[in-house]
Amino acid sequence: MIGVYDSGYGGLGVLAHLRAALPDHDFVYLGDNGRAPYGGRDVGTVLDFAEQAVERLIEEGCEIVVVACHTVSCVGLRHLQRRYAPVDGRFRVLGVTIPGAELAVRHTRGHVGVLATARTVASGTWEAEIHKLDPSVRVSQVAAPLLAAIVEEGWEDSPVARDAVARYVARLPGGVDTVVLGCTHYPLLLPAIRQAMPDGVLVVDPAPFVADRLVDWARRHPGRLEAGSGALRVLCTGDAAAFVLHGARFLGAPIPEVIPIAEHQGRLAHRGASASPAGQVVR
Ligand code: DGL
Repeated sequence: MIGVYDSGYGGLGVLAHLRAALPDHDFVYLGDNGRAPYGGRDVGTVLDFAEQAVERLIEEGCEIVVVACHTVSCVGLRHLQRRYAPVDGRFRVLGVTIPGAELAVRHTRGHVGVLATARTVASGTWEAEIHKLDPSVRVSQVAAPLLAAIVEEGWEDSPVARDAVARYVARLPGGVDTVVLGCTHYPLLLPAIRQAMPDGVLVVDPAPFVADRLVDWARRHPGRLEAGSGALRVLCTGDAAAFVLHGARFLGAPIPEVIPIAEHQGRLAHRGASASPAGQVVR
């Protein structure tokens, strides 16, 4: 079973590519939409949330977890790999930044732009990973904190989206030839981003390449991923009905039944599906 974890809906876009690439495998998706967005949070909180999510996916029986969230991948992948590698010596946590960096280096003529959340930009991980592959590549990052919220509202094809995208793209310095979408939500803004970009600038989405890399990993590690029937189980921490509604735009397909979970004593446990009551609550 393959676990896919994101701060909310965005990783469903990565999941879509993973399922297309590995149709005979079963997936569990954990969307932490009750605590999203992660992009403006402090490092300690992101790590706490990520540990809870990975532990839950281990409990679900996953042999591997793909951290689809760029913010977590940039801030906490090493931490998660060290902390959970000893589970049985076989469990793996993979991220999206290294494949994204490989993709950028493959395409660039020397100057990569990265659009991402504020926490991702502050981590400096894109620059570090790109420079491991080619230290001569210049990397210019722009934090675009409004874009994920615009996409979550479903406003990707609106004047608000086009204006916000144009303002962030204008912050990229001249000479950028390849721009990486360093946040799970931005592929839904591709038309607006392409429109705002100067001619000749290539825009790349790491998600399909993340799927290629996982297929390659599975080929190099035969027997590590158990084949299944293509089943999908979805867990979310927030509003399950909203997850079904909005998630379909990211997955490009209807979302099956969503299992509500919530933090309880440091764990992501099952919770009832009851809606939060309106008005005051006294415990
Ligand atoms: N999954 C997050 C990311 O890719 C979306 C944005 C957020 O949670 O702030 O960084």
